[in-house]
Amino acid sequence: MRRKIILDLDTGIDDALALAYALGSPELEIIGVTGTYGNVAVDTGVRNALAILELFGRTDVPVHAGLPCARECDSFEVLEISEFIHGANGIGGAQLPEPTTAAAEGDAVEFLVESVRKYGDELVIVPTGPSTTIAAAIEADSSFAENARIIMMGGALTVPGNVRPWAEANVHQDPEATDLLFRRARDVTMVGLDVTLQTLLTTRETAVWRSLGTRGGTFLADAADHYIRAYETTSPHLGGCGLHDPLAVAVAVDPGLVEFLHLNLKVDTHGETRGRTIADETRLNDPVKTARVAALVDVERFLAEFMGRLTALAEKTPAA
Ligand code: BDR
Ligand code: CA
Repeated sequence: MRRKIILDLDTGIDDALALAYALGSPELEIIGVTGTYGNVAVDTGVRNALAILELFGRTDVPVHAGLPCARECDSFEVLEISEFIHGANGIGGAQLPEPTTAAAEGDAVEFLVESVRKYGDELVIVPTGPSTTIAAAIEADSSFAENARIIMMGGALTVPGNVRPWAEANVHQDPEATDLLFRRARDVTMVGLDVTLQTLLTTRETAVWRSLGTRGGTFLADAADHYIRAYETTSPHLGGCGLHDPLAVAVAVDPGLVEFLHLNLKVDTHGETRGRTIADETRLNDPVKTARVAALVDVERFLAEFMGRLTALAEKTPAA
C-alpha cells in the first residue's frame, strides 16, 4: 500500500526538489500540499507549488494556504538571506507559466486536522518550512498531536545553525511553534542540518537534468543551479548545495537512509540561543521518547535515489 503524504512547504528551491522527489516516488500518494511562509511569502509559495505540480502533470493535488506569519508576529517579510538563496520568486529566477489552477478552498489547518482524523497513521506529514501551521493544527484539535506522524526538515542538534550560530532557518522563523510541536506531538522525526548538510548537489548532477532537453529537466536545472551558486557564496567549504527538504521526503519513503537518536526535544525561545533545538532536560529520563533525530545518513544511497527519481520524473515532461 502506498503511504499517504502531505507536504507543508515554503516553496523555495529545495522545497521544489522535495515536491519533485515526492512526485517521483511510487511509494507515496500525495494527499495534498499546504503552503507556508518562510523562503517566500505564503502566496508566492502556494503559487510555486501549483506551478510545479502543473509542470509535472499533477493538477489533481490540492494546495491549501497556511498561516502567513509567525505566532508572535502580525506580518512577515522575506529575509535578505532567504531572497539571496532562493531568488525573489523563490525558485531561483526559473520561469514557470502562471498556474491555471488556484489554491484549494479551506485553510491548511483544517485540511491537516481532517486528514489526520481520516487517515491516522497511514498518513505522514512532512513540513519543510516554519512550524507555524503545524503548531496551529496541534492547538486546533487535541487528537492531532496524538495521532499525527511528522517528519520535519528543521533544526540542528550536533552542528551549528545556518542563519544564527544556534538556529536553523525553519526553526528560527518561529521558535515558539517548533517548541510547541516538540512538546506536544507524539511522533516527530527531525531531519536537520546534522544530516542535510552532508547531502550535497553539484552542477555535475544538474547538467544531467539540463541534457534531457525537457521542460521539467530545464526547470530543475535552472532552479538548482541558482541554489548551488548561492551556496558557493554562503558556504564555499561545502562544495555543493544542501538537499535539506528532499532528504525529509526520502526518509518518509525509506527511514533506513538515516540512523536516529531517540530523544525528547525542545527549542530555546529566549536569550542568545533562541531557535536552538536541543534535548529537553526535564524529560531526559522519561522512558517515552517522542522524537527521533536523524544523526547519520547514507549519503551515496540517498543521492542515487534522489537523482534516479527526479531524472525519471523530468524525462516524462514535454520537450523544452
Ligand atoms: C531550510 O531552510 C529553508 O531555507 C530551506 O528551504 C530548508 O527548508 C534549511 O535550513
Ligand atoms: Ca523549506
